[in-house]
Amino acid sequence: MLLGVTGGVAAYKACFLTRLLSGAGAEVQVVMTGAAARFVGPDTFAALSGRPVYTELWDDPGSVLHVRLAREAEVAVVAPATANVLAKLAVGIADDLLTSTLLEARCPLVVAPAMHTGMWEQPATRANVATLLERGVRVVGPATGPLAHGDEGVGRLAEPEEILAAVEEAAAHGRDLAGRRLVVTAGPTWEPIDPVRFVGNRSTGRMGFAVAKEAWDRGADVTLVVGPGTVEPPAGPRLVRVTTAEEMRAAVLAAAEGADAVVMAAAVADFRPERVAGAKLKKEAGPPELRLVPTPDILSELGAARSGRVLVGFAAETDDLEGGGRAKLDAKGLDLLVVNEVGRPGTGFGSDTNHAAILSATGEDSPLREWTKRELAAALCDRIAALLAR
Ligand code: CTP
Repeated sequence: MLLGVTGGVAAYKACFLTRLLSGAGAEVQVVMTGAAARFVGPDTFAALSGRPVYTELWDDPGSVLHVRLAREAEVAVVAPATANVLAKLAVGIADDLLTSTLLEARCPLVVAPAMHTGMWEQPATRANVATLLERGVRVVGPATGPLAHGDEGVGRLAEPEEILAAVEEAAAHGRDLAGRRLVVTAGPTWEPIDPVRFVGNRSTGRMGFAVAKEAWDRGADVTLVVGPGTVEPPAGPRLVRVTTAEEMRAAVLAAAEGADAVVMAAAVADFRPERVAGAKLKKEAGPPELRLVPTPDILSELGAARSGRVLVGFAAETDDLEGGGRAKLDAKGLDLLVVNEVGRPGTGFGSDTNHAAILSATGEDSPLREWTKRELAAALCDRIAALLAR
């Protein structure tokens, strides 16, 4: 594992953390910033970890050091994490060995901030921490107590035992989908009326993207089947772009061959125009009569195949969420169904949070509550990992 030490007085506590991590069986690779090395000498960490300590990008001429360290790390922790390193991580600055390694790394990341209260409470720092949390970084502390310069307040590094617990938790959950193949769908489908018009919906793709990213971060091989007009998909998963429900069906069925789980977060149009005009419909011809016919129900088709794959659906309901959701879960032969409440301000399509419940075929439901899309994605991946481990 990788321990990043940045420049604060609390760097001395990272020595205790190194001992705790080694004692728990981890091979600790310490990377220090130049500022950290002014507080505690690299030789102390080298002696405690039994490995060379790196501070500069060119410390190991035989390898591309930041790439090697990033690939070797199963989990990374930055303790103490200064306001400066949090800001760099939030925006992706890679101007030294530690930040370059962390930008390259795919492993779970824990940060333990330590700084003066004023810096911690700055809107800029709050926003950077919120960005990191939203990306799935685990933040431990800071605690309240004595600070450098004889001050008191919030900003003290969390205790090494607490940081160790967060690292162990991150490591346990971090790669629990490694070796698994997931298919995730996201966004709407557009069903053409004529060459320029379509029947569609306002799905942005954010929910499916959060699931795909979470699964990818946890080690899964992810194929992301994406409808049109969505926000930017996450980097990593294999992307298949489609427009109509029929195209999505073909892409999903192909990718589902040999997959361990399929998560249908896409808002697939239930109906499409029966006929697609070959040329643009003219206003002068008067209002067109649109006859709609059902699209193929991809989830039902997968559910009917009973292939042993874990199947996850999403449903949107305005009332009787759990009753309506349970009926859909049973009808489509699903393992899990996320029922979203729609029609209330601030929830559903385009919003950052979901008012949702997770229903399960075995009856272990997560009751209706407010989730960020990332929290919901993490809870779903927990469930999928548990079902696959049976
Ligand atoms: N779905 C699908 N193929 C379709 C339609 C929907 O695979 N042609 C999937 C969606 O991706 C989602 C779930 O089925 O996972 C939604 O089921 P659906 O019965 O369409 O739910 P709602 O959209 O909530 O339906 P309704 O409008 O009937 O409440």
